[in-house]
Amino acid sequence: MAFSRDYLTTYFQDDEMTARILNGKAVADELCNKITEIIAQYKVRPGLAVILVGDDEASKVYVERKKEKSLSLGMKGRILHMPEGSPQQILEAIQMYNTAPDIHGILVQLPLPKGIHTSQMIEKINPIKDVDGIHPFNLGKLMIGEPIYTPCTPQGCIRLLKHYNINPEGKRALIIGRSRIVGLPISFLLTHLNATVTLAHSHSSNLPQLLSEADIIVSAVGKPKLIGTNHLKPNVAILDVGINRINQQANNGQSVVGDVDFTPVSKVASAISPVPGGIGPMTVACLMYNTLKASFIQEGKTMPEQFFNF
Ligand code: GUN
Repeated sequence: MAFSRDYLTTYFQDDEMTARILNGKAVADELCNKITEIIAQYKVRPGLAVILVGDDEASKVYVERKKEKSLSLGMKGRILHMPEGSPQQILEAIQMYNTAPDIHGILVQLPLPKGIHTSQMIEKINPIKDVDGIHPFNLGKLMIGEPIYTPCTPQGCIRLLKHYNINPEGKRALIIGRSRIVGLPISFLLTHLNATVTLAHSHSSNLPQLLSEADIIVSAVGKPKLIGTNHLKPNVAILDVGINRINQQANNGQSVVGDVDFTPVSKVASAISPVPGGIGPMTVACLMYNTLKASFIQEGKTMPEQFFNF
């Protein structure tokens, strides 16, 4: 009888066991290459407008990445940088892009500065241009399993699981963090993929118990080392959505870390997405995908179905 891979995995467990690294950068590059091909083949020119309000340094970096990526794929990409404290101007900018024929996707970078009502801004976006997928209409469609635009980070998480053949069906999935852009929508997606979903948050009192039961963990909190090896079920698959900026000297020269204490946890988990190079690039690639999809919808073009399956 030939040895199965399962047999080998068990045999070499002990110290040697290390998790598969879920290489978001590589999977994102693959998706972006496909987007470039489709743009050339179907002769579309998707347009993305990103609205940045205020001077948050991290947000400036993120929006620049989104613009650069859209330009590199042959799309139109622009950033509208607005001062803090101007809700009326933001609403007017959104309305301008709602009616601009060359702009197919509008994204308001979050978080918005204090005092600006996020829902009011998001609800001003025409749902057909909401490539973030977070307008109540789009979240509702996602909730009932009929998404038009699947929010970018949750979509990136599911694409990564799919790429590595990690099937959530019948598994216990623990999501930590219930934000509008990550935790809440990914709870719908995993539910529709037949996982048994627990959505934990800052008021959850039994996190150790929940961790010990989870086959899949998605951490979207923003706390370095929130997840260590304590309480983890062996062979858990972990998607680390945290992006935390920390002092470089205190961390071997690394300035960005996730929520997971990567080195020790990778000896217990069966799969883990790194930070950087995991979910971050997937989020940007999925925004490009949604913007491409938006251009097909708004230009009345027939979509190649095998590609537009998210
Ligand atoms: N801030 C961090 N990630 C995101 C995202 O995916 N969309 C928006 N709008 N803001 C963000």
